Amino acid sequence: MTHEVKGVVAKSKGEPVSIETIEVPNPGPGEVLIDVKACGVCHTDLHYREGAINDEFPFLLGHEASGLVEEVGEGVDDLTPGDFVILNWRAVCGHCRSCRRGRAWNCFATHNATQKMKLEGKELSPALGIGAFAEKTLVAAGQATKVNPAAKPEVAGLIGCGVMAGLGAAMNTGQVSRGDSVAVFGCGGVGDAAIEGSRLAGAHTIIAVDIDQTKLEWAKEFGATHIIDSSKVDPVEAIREITGGNGVDIAIEAIGLPVTYEQAFYSRDLAGTVVLVGVPNPEMRIELPMIEIFGRGGTLKSSWYGDCLPSRDFPMLIDLYLQERLELDRFVSETIALDEVEEAFHKMERGEVLRSVVVL
Ligand SMILES: NC(=O)c1ccc[n+]([C@@H]2O[C@H](COP(=O)([O-])OP(=O)(O)OC[C@H]3O[C@@H](n4cnc5c(N)ncnc54)[C@H](O)[C@@H]3O)[C@@H](O)[C@H]2O)c1
Ligand SMILES: [Zn+2]
Ligand SMILES: [Zn+2]
Repeated sequence: MTHEVKGVVAKSKGEPVSIETIEVPNPGPGEVLIDVKACGVCHTDLHYREGAINDEFPFLLGHEASGLVEEVGEGVDDLTPGDFVILNWRAVCGHCRSCRRGRAWNCFATHNATQKMKLEGKELSPALGIGAFAEKTLVAAGQATKVNPAAKPEVAGLIGCGVMAGLGAAMNTGQVSRGDSVAVFGCGGVGDAAIEGSRLAGAHTIIAVDIDQTKLEWAKEFGATHIIDSSKVDPVEAIREITGGNGVDIAIEAIGLPVTYEQAFYSRDLAGTVVLVGVPNPEMRIELPMIEIFGRGGTLKSSWYGDCLPSRDFPMLIDLYLQERLELDRFVSETIALDEVEEAFHKMERGEVLRSVVVL
């Protein structure tokens, strides 16, 4: 049986998205059908519709989602209809060279549903293998992580992408711990989550850097102890001043620009860590004196999806949220309907929101 449901589709490069009736198959072996409850609008969805990810139009957008399991396919024994789940784009394989060494968070062979969802008979490419700006979607069982259903769907869904990427950049990749000093460059959803993760991990100094004063004010609410408007002052100098002339233990770049990567590099103390979580485009280049890379010691790291392991991290973060130890409500700037995604892209471009979340 095929389900006909409404979904947000990007049909061609740069064109506004539209609501279409799409065809979602019943789950086959290893697949689950999800009744989507909420899905956040992420910058990556906009990248897809601009053709910046690949050319495989039409895309079924949306990937920061939560929902209820509606039906499970053959061989799926750890999910049951009615389970509340967060969708993830890291269904680990268990067999690749990274999984075999016990590093499943780096899995090099993650998988998605085998069957295709379609628009007028043509295969859709679901964003990040999910496609959740839709009333129902089809994913691989490993893409659905069961969490406590007491969490609000619009909040839970955000753990599925940007918030996890930021929290994990600080807690998993950067290994922020008690007494550390941290600087976060870029205070969008990802950067603010990195600030929140640093606070949760016990950082004593958390410096937020952005060029937008409103974003800096929001960053304070997430736990920044200091803010720097880098359109007005040199952030490297300002960070040195705050840290007794030394720089921070961990500098997190959450924008994806050469200029801010270099600022992060130079604002770090000796033997410190730089974490790149912002996504650069293929044309970007950086030039650094090699002696500085050597002489400063420490570590330069990249963070894919916050080095998360959904089965380990999602339930834990939802529990912390329900215990009011993790502030997630603040990320939801507004809830919207499925037909308001295009407008939400514009609000994101104008810097008016942290997250618009579609609620179904
Ligand atoms: N690594 C991952 O797995 C992963 C996952 C999700 C998103 N991301 C990436 O993280 C980045 C941030 O995502 P987001 O949703 O927070 O985006 P966003 O657009 O909401 O936030 C970016 C912030 O950077 C600020 N900014 C822009 N230029 C700046 C500059 N020159 N100096 C200082 N601040 C500047 C903006 O004012 C804004 O507050 C994006 O590149 C996104 O693609 C990475
Ligand atoms: Zn693997
Ligand atoms: Zn995303």
